[in-house]
Amino acid sequence: MTHQKIERPALERMLQGMPLKMQNTVTKTLENISLVAEIRDPKVGVSMLPSAYRGLWQKKGKGDDGVPMKSGHAVHFDLNYGSDFPEMYDLYRRAVANQWDGEWQLDWNTQVDPMNPEVPILGSTPFIPFDSLETAGISLTAKEKQELTFHFSAWMLSQFMHGEQGALYASAQCTESVKWVDAKLYGATQVMDEGRHLEVFLRYLETKLERMYKVNDNLFVIIDDLLTDSRWDIKFLGMQIMVEGLALGAFSTMYNQTGEPLLKNLLRYVIQDEARHVHYGVLALREHFTKYLSSAELREREDWAFEVAMLMRNRFFAHEIYEEWFSHKLSRATWNRLMSESPAMTKFRSIMFQRLVPNLQYIGLLSPRMESYYEKAGLMAYVGGKNASQLSEQDLLRDNDKLAEKALEQARDAA
Ligand SMILES: [Fe+2]
Ligand SMILES: [Fe+2]
Repeated sequence: MTHQKIERPALERMLQGMPLKMQNTVTKTLENISLVAEIRDPKVGVSMLPSAYRGLWQKKGKGDDGVPMKSGHAVHFDLNYGSDFPEMYDLYRRAVANQWDGEWQLDWNTQVDPMNPEVPILGSTPFIPFDSLETAGISLTAKEKQELTFHFSAWMLSQFMHGEQGALYASAQCTESVKWVDAKLYGATQVMDEGRHLEVFLRYLETKLERMYKVNDNLFVIIDDLLTDSRWDIKFLGMQIMVEGLALGAFSTMYNQTGEPLLKNLLRYVIQDEARHVHYGVLALREHFTKYLSSAELREREDWAFEVAMLMRNRFFAHEIYEEWFSHKLSRATWNRLMSESPAMTKFRSIMFQRLVPNLQYIGLLSPRMESYYEKAGLMAYVGGKNASQLSEQDLLRDNDKLAEKALEQARDAA
């Protein structure tokens, strides 16, 4: 069974007539089973099972206390101390020079009213598909739409914050494991960066929006999987390339949409750091993949990256918002379909792949063997774009709506 089948109206027709609660239980179960079932490569599915169990069935991410995660990675203690990766050392120097302090460089005295339409947290491209909701029989007043947009912004920023906590631990683990001393120095700056990102998102949510959401189950599964995997380069690949690539797309989308000056400034600082993190990821992995892995190990990474990219594409449907607003009047299956088809989500996915695919290509994970899979998924249109080592800060901050539309058109032509 594929996830696409779940989203199609066939499922909605099949569920029709059942009480809404039962419909949603069936849909949720199918979604959970499909996380593993939709993974084409069984090895990747098996390695992800424990995290899927903890995240989707046990709902560990929805608790109030901490979740222990055991990692089996090895610490590499260096005895050479030689300059072993000059490009990485340059990044380290740049990172040290560009440290910032959210306490005094951001104006926390800014008054934020998330319900003020003159200063929107999220701008004109609604992530919530209001028109499609109306077609599905849900009409909202202007005030409700505004409130829902505010809740969605808080949901999105909460997910950024949870992701930052994951990035903090993943970068600490990678700093321990990585074998170049220059990369360890650089990694230390990233640990500081991620700590600061966690601090500023948390502060914004607590003091400005006064609203926070629990971690999304699917995001929890990916973070749990990365933090508990013993292979350092999988942690690296997952966090530095995949999750940070996704985050960078989300940050720049929000940066260009928001009219709220404190958030805009905060995101600008975070984007500058994240661009360095992805750059670091591609440098380290290109070196590692091309020089140190056997072809069997490389194949394993190629499969893993493709499967995780597919999960990231198919699984972020803001179910926490659905539960809060619509679970009593709209089926979960219909919500999934509306979210997956919404123009803003489509555009967002396109921005994400525009960043991700050139990076996967640059680090050597897009071999001819994988091309047919990327082709089928409509992702070959993104091949040849700028990778993280070529992107300037301006590229990342620029309104990428136009770029996204162009890539979207290419993807449609290729499909
Ligand atoms: Fe971060
Ligand atoms: Fe980061």
